[in-house]
Amino acid sequence: MAVTVITGAASGMGRACVESLRGTADHLLAVDLVAPEIEGAIGVACDVADPDAIAALVEQVQGLGSFRGLAHAAGISPTMADARRVFEIDLLGTVLLLDAFEPLVEPGSSAVCFASSSAYQIALADIDPAHQALVTDPRVPGFLETAAAQFPDSGMAYSWAKRGVIAVSAKAAVSWGRRGGRVNSLSPGLIDTPMGRQEADQQPIMKMMLDNTPLQRLGEPSEVAAVVSFLLSEQASFISGVDVLVDGGMLQGFITAFVS
Ligand SMILES: NC(=O)c1ccc[n+]([C@@H]2O[C@H](COP(=O)([O-])OP(=O)(O)OC[C@H]3O[C@@H](n4cnc5c(N)ncnc54)[C@H](O)[C@@H]3O)[C@@H](O)[C@H]2O)c1
Repeated sequence: MAVTVITGAASGMGRACVESLRGTADHLLAVDLVAPEIEGAIGVACDVADPDAIAALVEQVQGLGSFRGLAHAAGISPTMADARRVFEIDLLGTVLLLDAFEPLVEPGSSAVCFASSSAYQIALADIDPAHQALVTDPRVPGFLETAAAQFPDSGMAYSWAKRGVIAVSAKAAVSWGRRGGRVNSLSPGLIDTPMGRQEADQQPIMKMMLDNTPLQRLGEPSEVAAVVSFLLSEQASFISGVDVLVDGGMLQGFITAFVS
């Protein structure tokens, strides 16, 4: 029996992934802080920053069958927490999940981890290799304290945590690949979800970002979920270790307006 896990499944893009991944596995596990009640999926309560909860999730997957897919959409945004917590959930949580699922990986297993287009925008302004090195190895002792001290602003922390998500996903593609598995990350632009709306309400820069999106609209969660489904499918069987930007052209809009 094939098992696919979707984190952040109660809301936004994770919820849309549950819909788009229906029928692609025998069991869909819908994971969130509170077990989501979604028809046709098994709801699981799990904090992705809690190693014990992740160990229990992995055990549940093993008990149900073979590990097919992981769509890791759970995350928090800058207005939801301080810098330390942002690094803890968005970056350390991703590493914990990738490490915990690795022993289950077999040919055909695949993961997609949610990063953000802000990981690209930050790189337009900050190319310090020490910053990149910091977020590429969040397993080092004291990482959260160091990262939060380096980036005390939660917005910067979010962008760098998501840059870290891209880096650790690419690295996991190498270790998962030895078992025949694939790992990619996906960077959404401005997407119409509860998180997206909260950031738009509280951060004036979001209006400027929308103005610089060539398609001149927010993305729909289903448009992102369709890409996740593709990346987890056999149609993407030779795609691994890359980040896919799903932003309606926003990054290029920024580069055109402010860089080139
Ligand atoms: N909405 C956007 O515009 C946007 C843009 C770029 C990146 N993203 C990223 O996409 C992903 C999905 O975002 P969304 O807009 O659908 O958000 P959302 O807030 O609508 O949904 C996120 C879900 O994650 C869950 N969650 C948060 N912390 C968790 C934890 N510790 N353990 C388990 N579940 C947890 C929440 O309960 C929520 O159900 C996030 O990683 C986010 O950073 C969003």
